[in-house]
Amino acid sequence: MRIIIMGPPGVGKGTEAELLIKHYNIPHISTGNIFRELFETELEIGKIAKSYINRGELVPDDITNEIVRERLNEKDVEKGFLFDGFPRNIDQAKAFDAILKEKNWKLDAVINIEGNEELIIKRLSGRRVCEKCGAIYHITNKKPKVEGICNVCGGKLIQRADDLEDTVRRRLRIYKDQTAPVIGYYLASGTIINVDGTRSIDDTHNDIMKVLGE
Ligand code: AP5
Ligand code: MG
Repeated sequence: MRIIIMGPPGVGKGTEAELLIKHYNIPHISTGNIFRELFETELEIGKIAKSYINRGELVPDDITNEIVRERLNEKDVEKGFLFDGFPRNIDQAKAFDAILKEKNWKLDAVINIEGNEELIIKRLSGRRVCEKCGAIYHITNKKPKVEGICNVCGGKLIQRADDLEDTVRRRLRIYKDQTAPVIGYYLASGTIINVDGTRSIDDTHNDIMKVLGE
């Protein structure tokens, strides 16, 4: 399976991706996660990415597209992949098409999770993530077994710096201006599947599985 999962910030892309990659046994490629891992290194690119991300702005396309190109040269993507948070504007979608064409690969589905602003603010203000492995939790919707500790790896749960309300509002604005038009781009190729993201984590997962024919 070659899948893209898209949708506004906080709608549940990462949460649904965790379930889908288990089902299909494919790598989860989240450009946001790749950038956050780079924060921890001494690399200049990590510092640049951090400055954009903490302001709630998109990392420049040349950096993002290069990271994706490099990731797609790794061996594990030959069995398929799930992209989460990429492409995020029309230019990235075109660059992605060019890479897929070079490799002679086709996308199976673009899953577009829909939600509303009020729900997104609630989800992001209560989100906690593992600082070690990136697993996603919520203070009421998806509690860890032990408060503040990751179920998967025992890491500490933290709040993302870009989950402050003002930064979330900026991310939502950028989503509307730059990312929402990507839905139209994929509509033209007939690969888009809209899913209601306002339901529970499991109901949304079941809807996605149904539309994927599973
Ligand atoms: P990225 O990490 O991709 O963030 P995002 O798109 O803003 O989305 P989030 O990760 O915040 O939300 P999500 O939809 O994954 O929701 P989640 O599952 O966590 O990108 C971060 C930044 O990196 C960008 O702003 C940009 O600066 C940069 N970047 C990344 N990609 C880029 C690109 N291609 N180009 C340029 N820059 C790029 O869920 C949220 C919360 O809700 C959790 O607490 C979860 O437990 C809960 N929840 C989820 N689903 C449900 C449900 N159904 N019911 C109840 N609660 C739920
Ligand atoms: Mg995410």
